[in-house]
Amino acid sequence: MSSFYLTTPIYYASGEPHLGHAYTTILADVIARYRRRAGQDVLFLTGTDEHGQKIQEAAAEQGMSPLELCDLMAGRFEAAWEDLGISNDRFIRTTEAEHRAVVAALLERLKDNGHIYEAEYAGWYSVGQERYFTEKEIGPDRVDPIAGGPVQRIREKNYFFRMSHFQERLIRHIEENPDWIVPATRRNEVLGFLAQPLADLSISRPRSRIHWGIPLPWDDAQVCYVWVDALTNYVTASGAIDPDAPKEERGFGDLRPSRWPADVHLMGKDILTTHSVYWPTLLMGANLPLPRKILAHGWWVVGDTKMSKSLGNVVDPLDLRDRFGTGAVRWYLMREMATGQDASYTPGRFLTRYDELSNILGNLAHRTLSMVKRYRGGVVPDAPADGLAADTEAALTAYRDGLEGYRLHAGFAAAMNLARGANGFVEAREPWVLARDPEGADELDRTLATLVRTLAVLAAMFEPVTPTKARKLSMRLDLDHVPLFAELDALEVGGRSVTVGSPLFPRVDPD
Ligand code: MSP
Repeated sequence: MSSFYLTTPIYYASGEPHLGHAYTTILADVIARYRRRAGQDVLFLTGTDEHGQKIQEAAAEQGMSPLELCDLMAGRFEAAWEDLGISNDRFIRTTEAEHRAVVAALLERLKDNGHIYEAEYAGWYSVGQERYFTEKEIGPDRVDPIAGGPVQRIREKNYFFRMSHFQERLIRHIEENPDWIVPATRRNEVLGFLAQPLADLSISRPRSRIHWGIPLPWDDAQVCYVWVDALTNYVTASGAIDPDAPKEERGFGDLRPSRWPADVHLMGKDILTTHSVYWPTLLMGANLPLPRKILAHGWWVVGDTKMSKSLGNVVDPLDLRDRFGTGAVRWYLMREMATGQDASYTPGRFLTRYDELSNILGNLAHRTLSMVKRYRGGVVPDAPADGLAADTEAALTAYRDGLEGYRLHAGFAAAMNLARGANGFVEAREPWVLARDPEGADELDRTLATLVRTLAVLAAMFEPVTPTKARKLSMRLDLDHVPLFAELDALEVGGRSVTVGSPLFPRVDPD
């Protein structure tokens, strides 16, 4: 069985889960579910980023210890993911002992490889982004260029990673592997960034200023820079490094049997530089293979403004879920954002997407099942399900291309189109006319069998995005599980006893 390892960013334990975090996590979940259904052995990782100045300050503000705050927030993220149907295999916290030991081992390895030196550093630091920016990046107003927050001037002793040493190798890797960073616009941004000389990376902070971090194994007056700590989570969870083994057997160089390298790291475009510059150069420095793909998706905005706590316009995915159900939130996020581009949340668009589920997919299921009940006593006729064959084939191909090629919106559009086409098929065949015509019995049988078969295909296609509803639909079709893609060809629908039930996606009051 082939394996597939995918990751989301680990979210800062200082903030509440919001629509943006939910988007990346649901995107990962949909891919994980699709891959499992296609027969792959999946490791799906998410978690929380718990060290650093941001957490230290947030905890102090709330009168808690940093670990108390992290325990609380990690619990909130885990609960939110459960509510949104997330099927992660592991939830990692960077305060875990195993992770701390892997970070120490990685740092030690970088040092042993001669890539670490000590120096005085002066620069502009943004606590919001937990990173330094150059004069040019912060501009004349001296603000963090990503969120517009404050930056502070810091001068102190740090240890540095010779990132500059890997610049050429990184550029070559990006040029030789055009699909390594997707979409292409993001790849070009990274190449543009790398056209300037790359500075070395400060990888530590004096403990006198930041106590909440992992001490350097060779100097415990310094703690590891939080991004180096956080990025390493992907290796920790893979099992590639055994920090307890003797140095030469830990897994740097001769890779231990593990899930490393990751097949894809998913993230928003805000943290592409850390993932496509810091992370691969650190891996090169430690003799570890690079991840196979980096996907940076776009940004959710509200109307046309950025979502932010201070503007008070943060969309709570759990609120939407309470009103419309998990499937509706997942469908909206996956269908509405063209993977890679920005998208704007508006209640109107949310309702439009919900209506698709209700009026197209839900309606198809309801009318099909009702007709089987009304015209054939609830038993699917044993007749050739030979309608819609070309539409189904085309939809499955477009769907697979979309889900495997990280264009999920296009894949799901193809699935919804099949449902739309099936509704058109109902209008064209007019089963209610056939039912009154004694000569129409055969055609009615074939029509109903085709529609039930199409619903089984749709259940398989919608399972990654609306898993609970797909299961419900399958049960109503008298199937004991949502069919796998490999099972569709041989699937017999004739003779099954269907149940009509209540609408899968009930109409909602638009107010
Ligand atoms: N802790 C770091 C990541 C470390 S990974 C080794 C971090 N955390 S975060 O809590 O700020 O989460 C950032 C991620 O949340 C983004 O990269 C993206 O995946 C998601 N999003 C947060 N807000 C978002 C939007 N408004 N729109 C889309 N995704 C956004 O950065």
